[in-house]
This record gives sequence, C-alpha cells and structure tokens, in this order.
Amino acid sequence: MKQTLRNLAEQNQLYMGTCVSYDPLVQDTFYREILAREFNILTPENAMKFQWTEPEQNKFNFKEADKLVEFAVQNKMKIRGHTLVWHQAVPPWVKNGKFTKKELMEILHNHIRKLVQHYKGRIYCWDVVNEAFETDGSFRHSLWYDTIGPDYIEMAFQWAHEADPDALLFYNDYDTENLNPKSDAIYSYLKKLKEKDIPIDGIGFQCHILDNPDIRLNELDANFKRFAGLGFQTDITEIDVSIQLSEGTLEKKIKKQSELYAGILKVCRENTSCKMFVLWGFTDKYTWVRYRKGHQDDLPCIFDEQYQPKPIFNELKKIIIKNPP
Ligand code: XIL
Repeated sequence: MKQTLRNLAEQNQLYMGTCVSYDPLVQDTFYREILAREFNILTPENAMKFQWTEPEQNKFNFKEADKLVEFAVQNKMKIRGHTLVWHQAVPPWVKNGKFTKKELMEILHNHIRKLVQHYKGRIYCWDVVNEAFETDGSFRHSLWYDTIGPDYIEMAFQWAHEADPDALLFYNDYDTENLNPKSDAIYSYLKKLKEKDIPIDGIGFQCHILDNPDIRLNELDANFKRFAGLGFQTDITEIDVSIQLSEGTLEKKIKKQSELYAGILKVCRENTSCKMFVLWGFTDKYTWVRYRKGHQDDLPCIFDEQYQPKPIFNELKKIIIKNPP
C-alpha cells in the first residue's frame, strides 16, 4: 500500500503516534524521516519527566524536550506531554529531601506550573498522573502518596488545568486493559473526580503487552465503553507487544504479535472515544524492552532494527481504512 500510515490516519480522524527519544532524533536521519512521514503525534519518551526537566530545585532544563517539541511543530505533529506526576524518574533532590507535606505540595505545584506553562499552547494533551494504582486496585505507595495522601492526584489535575486550560488532561496506566481490580478501582476513582468537577478529559491505556499476553479484547472494549460513559476520551498511549509471549517459530511469534497489535487497533477504531493509537517506539533499534527489568525482548515494534516494516505495518493501514469512526 502506497499511502503512509500518517496520511491514512489523517484521512480517517486518527492520531497515529509513537514515543520519541532525544538521542536518535538528533543522531539518526532514518529515524527522523520515518517519524515525520508515518506519524502525526509524538510523546517524549523521557525528556519531559521530572528528573529531566527539573534536575535541581527550581532549575529547569528544557533542552531535550524543546528539541522534540520543535521537531513536532516543524512537522505539524501533535504532542502528548508525558508525564507530570509519576513514582519513577523522581530526581534525588526530591527523593532524599525529607520534605513535609506542605513543602512537597509546593514543589509539585511549582513543577507542574512551570513545565506546563513553558509549553502552553503547544501540547495537545498531558498525562497528568501516571500509574497511581496497584494491580489489586489500591493506591500505589510512592513519595507523592505517602507524603501528600491521595489528594495529590486531584491537585495535579487542577494545577495542570490552571497552567494551560486548553490542554486535554489524562490519567494514564498499564494492565488496565482487562476488567480487573485495577481498572475497576480507577473507574470508581475517576468517576468520583469527575463528580467533583476535577478537570480530567481522558484515560490512557498504555497497552504494554510484554509480560502477559492475556489481553481480552472484549474487556478492553467494555472498559472503553464504561470510561466513555463518564465522558472520557479513551486512548492507546504506549503500545508495544513482545514476541516472546508465544511459543513456536519466529514466524509464528510474529504472527501472534501482529494479531495483538491489530486486535487492539480494531477495538480503538470501533469506539469513537478512542482518538489515538500511540506506539512505545516504532523501531526495534531503540526499544526500551531490550533493557527493561523483568521480561526483555528485542523485537516488540512494528519496524525492525533496519527500519524494515513488519507485516503488521500494512495490516494497521487496512484496519484504519476498514473501520472509519
Ligand atoms: C520508560 C522509558 O521507555 C525508558 O527509556 C525509561 O528508562 C523508563 O521509562 N510506562 C510509562 C513510560 O509511562 O514512561 C515508561 O517509559 C514505560 C512504562
């Protein structure tokens, strides 16, 4: 198929995206070419996280993130800001500062305000809070939760909204695709926030299919529908699919991987609340899954290390065309 993924996505009202890292962006011409040709939205893989943007207290460093934003603007791509509050990528000065509740609230408020204001008007949506729940549906213990209490979540949304009222604001998490205690807890919690008029527009389903292939597409669909019932946009925000999840020959494994990518995009296209499908990296050359703790894989992306598209690349195009919104 001659048409690019990006053209088809644009003709069919879909944001097709990928996460992007600074080093390949500045060093690798092929990477830049494919990125601008095939995608119309990008998420900074790390460059906007706390540790990168505020490595010392109130001394902001936007160098890497600015480069990504500049590339997106030049190539008329949208940007998903990622992420304002997370238990990881917290710089040592925050982690080891032994701050009181009031101090930590001020630190978080200042961080969100300055970061969001810096990019005001250029960010389509922000992952405001990332991964705040455990598998069993309880709140995740983190510096934020343990010091401020669960209200850090709604504070973060309020502060982000004050800093850029036009950006869409998302809660983002993993292992929430199925109907399970985690997605149930997030549903009840976000419903409460919505009833309190906390500014929140959507939920991101990360879709890292890496440790467990047991994603049930009918349950993903049911989740999309119940969250859409709260008025939320329901997007795929970080998809990658390990090939080592299935048995047999490499061919068989790649076929299973394709089925998972395809099945998830199909559910997205069948729900108008799903407006974006963002890959966590488009080439095996730079995938984080190689270095990840726990399960590792060299081949989770839709392009291989030499930038050759796998069969799923054309498959995704067909699904976009066949399932208009
Ligand atoms: C990962 C990056 O891909 C790695 O480069 C980094 O070392 C750790 O973080 N969920 C998220 C992403 O929301 O920010 C994580 O990104 C992957 C899991």
